[in-house]
Amino acid sequence: MWIVAISRGVTIAVFCSGLAVVALAQDKSETVSAVRCGSIERIYQLSPRLYCGSRPSTAEDFAELARLGIHWIVSVDGIPPDVDAARTAGLRYIHIPLDYGSIETDQTARLIRAVEAAPGPVYIHCHHGKYRGPAAAAQTAGVLEAWPRERVAAWLSQAGLIPEEYPDLYASAIEPVKPDRATLDAIDPALLPDRAPVPDLVERMVEIDALWMELKEIAPDAVGEPALARQLGEQFRESARREESRRYGPDLIRSLETAAKAAFAVEAAWRDRQPAAAEREAVARSCVECHRAYRNRDRATR
Ligand code: HEC
Repeated sequence: MWIVAISRGVTIAVFCSGLAVVALAQDKSETVSAVRCGSIERIYQLSPRLYCGSRPSTAEDFAELARLGIHWIVSVDGIPPDVDAARTAGLRYIHIPLDYGSIETDQTARLIRAVEAAPGPVYIHCHHGKYRGPAAAAQTAGVLEAWPRERVAAWLSQAGLIPEEYPDLYASAIEPVKPDRATLDAIDPALLPDRAPVPDLVERMVEIDALWMELKEIAPDAVGEPALARQLGEQFRESARREESRRYGPDLIRSLETAAKAAFAVEAAWRDRQPAAAEREAVARSCVECHRAYRNRDRATR
């Protein structure tokens, strides 16, 4: 894979398969180059040793990453990485799950240590490659590649991370607390885990997200499988029942119950062979509203 700047403001990317050449980015010289790699979406090269994008999901994706020259993959997603698929392609996974609030200083330290210790280029990914991954990559570029603030800001805006929606994640991406040498040296890269524990609600949300993605595939005016909507409702209801969900506060429990009702309303409509456009809207709203209130910023400032 080569990135060749042919003239001011125009970047040519050679696909990692080495077959095609396409002009992908046309902007100021600050623009980060997009790369085509398997079925992975939104993959960008920030520097010779740093790539960022969405979650690789097939054996071919991992093989393509290896072909691109990647050695280690850092996942900042809540979904447990597919460690075996990566290993088959000769790649090592490191899991540093982030939420959508500030990146904690110990998370930054692990991230920086992983990238600096890697034997070759590193691929950082979250789920969709839009928010947490770009924020982690921004920290790495700021600390290890000495990117100035304006360049980091341009990258974050290119990736789609906006301060209005994720103020704390954005702030820590643009101004990371730089770990000192002693802190970094205290981290043994060999011991960085390929699967790290995540909060119970994150595990539930990963399930909810998968069901929701499946449900969204169904056209709004079509009738889907009631069992799918039922499963979604049950996941919300179960999340509301979990002891661990209580630490987010009583309003969150109520919102989870409301989301469950909305999903069960979709189920009821589909059972009656009716499309459920309005009911589905209500579920979608519940995701957005609850995330705004409970997920997209630090808890102390909520
Ligand atoms: C009642 C509140 C609530 C509702 C409704 C809700 N979520 Fe969440 N979601 C959360 C919270 C809180 C978190 C963050 C948990 C944490 O990081 O500790 C979260 C996290 C997530 C994550 C991130 C998981 C990760 O990788 O860290 C995804 C994806 C997600 N939710 C998808 C959805 C979708 C899709 C819907 C709607 C179909 C939805 N959620 C509805 C509260 C909610």
